[in-house]
Amino acid sequence: MLGPVILAASRSDALRRTLSAAPLTRPVVKRFIAGETIEATAPAIEDMAGQGLDVTLDVLGEDVTDPAEATRSRDAYLRLIEVLGPLQLGERAEMSVKLSCMGQALAGGHDIALANVTAIVEAAAAIGTTVTLDAEDHTTIDSTLAIHTALRERFPRTGAVVQSYLFRTEDDCRALAAAGSRVRLVKGAYKEPASVAHQDKAEVDKAYVRCLRILMEGDGYPMVGSHDPRIIAIAQDLAQRAGRKLTDYEFQMLYGIRSAEQHRLAAEGHRMRVYVAYGTDWYGYFMRRLAERPANLAFFLRSLAGR
Ligand code: FDA
Repeated sequence: MLGPVILAASRSDALRRTLSAAPLTRPVVKRFIAGETIEATAPAIEDMAGQGLDVTLDVLGEDVTDPAEATRSRDAYLRLIEVLGPLQLGERAEMSVKLSCMGQALAGGHDIALANVTAIVEAAAAIGTTVTLDAEDHTTIDSTLAIHTALRERFPRTGAVVQSYLFRTEDDCRALAAAGSRVRLVKGAYKEPASVAHQDKAEVDKAYVRCLRILMEGDGYPMVGSHDPRIIAIAQDLAQRAGRKLTDYEFQMLYGIRSAEQHRLAAEGHRMRVYVAYGTDWYGYFMRRLAERPANLAFFLRSLAGR
């Protein structure tokens, strides 16, 4: 059970500093991180769009500890929107925002994060696109969903993310589906206690299917965030039974994971959106990818060993 150990390591500042500085880490990190700047990442976005793939862009960073850092994170998204504007991709290039980056954990953080993310959502709307609020650890979910509700009063296309490993998520899905939201369903990537989350992978998968059924049968726009072939097949089946057309829901996968499957789904006429993360603060994101799959860890260790 390496996953929980790696997830614990993802919160270690000492390891963050050591690994971030190691030159050998870079080639491995590149598999999951599209670039260090938006200028370096923009060609990949255009390339994917040309191949029929939509994107959601994440400026890497999380857990900011002072308001100035939160402002810098907000400004990085505003800069991203400046670069996206001329590409004229509309909602084919939306953004994923972590509210911990926007200052959610600071004193008075709920209001700071709301103000910062509102500026991003306003700028996104001005170029015809939108924002989805990533889901982080369980202590943040109430605040994140409240911010999602507040944003939707003016910007109803703002998306939410829900994690099937949390016991609360079926209820959240019912509320979001009734409200007609854009909702990304994922299994969940954080280390959570047994008091709030399923620990058994089979239970997480079963809960995913229950949540997916609620979203597919509801009034919203489901976004199926998973690389799992069984989940993808079940999603197609549930969508068909619910009378949804291919454009009434979408699949989402992470950059660097199952690219051939991403292209296959897009070629079949599905909406396929790739979550593209870029920036220099890649440590937490990268460690969660390692924790998800032993093969990713083996690939990382082989690369460090120079093989
Ligand atoms: P899971 O890890 O359960 O694997 C199931 C199967 O999928 C594997 O057996 C294999 O067949 C296939 N598979 C998985 N990874 C593969 C790989 N690298 N190569 C080949 N096959 C592979 N989490 C969160 O907590 N908050 C968030 O906001 C988000 N946002 C988000 C956005 C998007 C677009 C995605 C796809 C995921 C997230 N996540 C997330 C992460 C999510 O919670 C979860 O940790 C990962 O998606 C892994 O779960 P899966 O459902 O993909 O498959």
